[in-house]
Amino acid sequence: IVRDGVRVFELEAGAGRTSFVPQGDTPTLGYDGAYLGPTLVAARGERVRVRVQNGLDVSTTVHWHGMHLPAAMDGGPHSPIPAGASWTPEWTIDQPAASLWYHPHLHGRTREQVDAGLAGMFLVTDDAEASLPLPRTYGVDDVPLIVQDRSFGADGGFAGGPGMQFDGALGDTILVNGTVTPHLAVSTERVRLRLLNGSSARMYDFVFADGREFSLIGTDGGLLAAPVRTTSVPLSPGERAEIVVELSPGEDAVLRSRAPDPALHAGAAAFDVLQLRAAASLAPSPELPETLVPLPAADDADAAAQRTFVMSGHSINERQMDLGRADFVTEVDTTEVWTVRNENPLPHSFHVHDTQFRVLTVDGGPPPRRLSGWKDTIALEWNREYRLLVTFEDYADPTTPYMYHCHLLWHEDQGMMGQFLVV
Ligand code: C2O
Ligand code: CU
Ligand code: CU
Repeated sequence: IVRDGVRVFELEAGAGRTSFVPQGDTPTLGYDGAYLGPTLVAARGERVRVRVQNGLDVSTTVHWHGMHLPAAMDGGPHSPIPAGASWTPEWTIDQPAASLWYHPHLHGRTREQVDAGLAGMFLVTDDAEASLPLPRTYGVDDVPLIVQDRSFGADGGFAGGPGMQFDGALGDTILVNGTVTPHLAVSTERVRLRLLNGSSARMYDFVFADGREFSLIGTDGGLLAAPVRTTSVPLSPGERAEIVVELSPGEDAVLRSRAPDPALHAGAAAFDVLQLRAAASLAPSPELPETLVPLPAADDADAAAQRTFVMSGHSINERQMDLGRADFVTEVDTTEVWTVRNENPLPHSFHVHDTQFRVLTVDGGPPPRRLSGWKDTIALEWNREYRLLVTFEDYADPTTPYMYHCHLLWHEDQGMMGQFLVV
């Protein structure tokens, strides 16, 4: 609904029961009575307002992951919504078309709430994306896929998995948009899949079972400069990828996750993720364009500051999250270079609120093309050095901080997070 020029959404967090497995219904959380939440869609330039009602019996928050917005609207741990209360953030969408998402960010309890089902996609559209010949009919040839791993107990309830003390629970069953063993009926020659790793710890390496090539067209914060032909896309928790895959009439194609290197990643196991079932005759889809959107050169010549983040154990720079401490203060409308390193043999990632960064170098060399676009979350391989170009624009607030953290939610809950002010 658009009211007085503002696009208004309503979300109600609440408890429910969902039928995933034969052994019994699973008690879940979700938005609007379901497991997960509705896909929100808004256009660049639009003013949006979300009325979040907390129908849970505990506090929650809603964080807009990947969104550029004022810190007070960001939904981090400083914006708890008590049980029964509501919260109504409002901001103007001002970033390229992208597949973003939303989830709770309650201090120390994020994993528990996300794993129970509180998460959804937030798609941003814009004119640049709309002018390209890309599949974009929602639910037909443009499909968001929230990929999660869960385990179920004998009564059907969610059960913890192995690895809890290090990385958080790993599940043995894959859910896609809350469905076990899903398939997608495909009616067009090309289909665009917006993949979100919505798991709390598991890392995936998405491939097709027959090894076919597909096109990576977008990453966390928007489209790439040009499609990248590839056979695999790795995603750590919180990361997104938009891919376009071609199908032949009548064929089945299986999207799988192949086992990532167990030495580097949480959850080295292979899973079938989604079966794509192409109809006997497919509606034609336009060829993918050779180029997508212009990306500014990632140039660190004007960097106003350099910062280093060492991820180790459950700490960042040997510190743990303290809600009362700003770890640093940065100046609005300046650019910084952040050097990030994972120094110990646990899988970690790095996520920053409010902004989309660019990867300048990995171990001194140019990043792989899959990391050449806008990112807000990046998986960190051990002892590699990632230099990121980070900008905080438009919004200054001397009191409300933004967060940066490992997006393995158990690590985040254990305090592997820091906060900064933009002034
Ligand atoms: Cu997706 Cu700070 O979170
Ligand atoms: Cu975030
Ligand atoms: Cu971590």
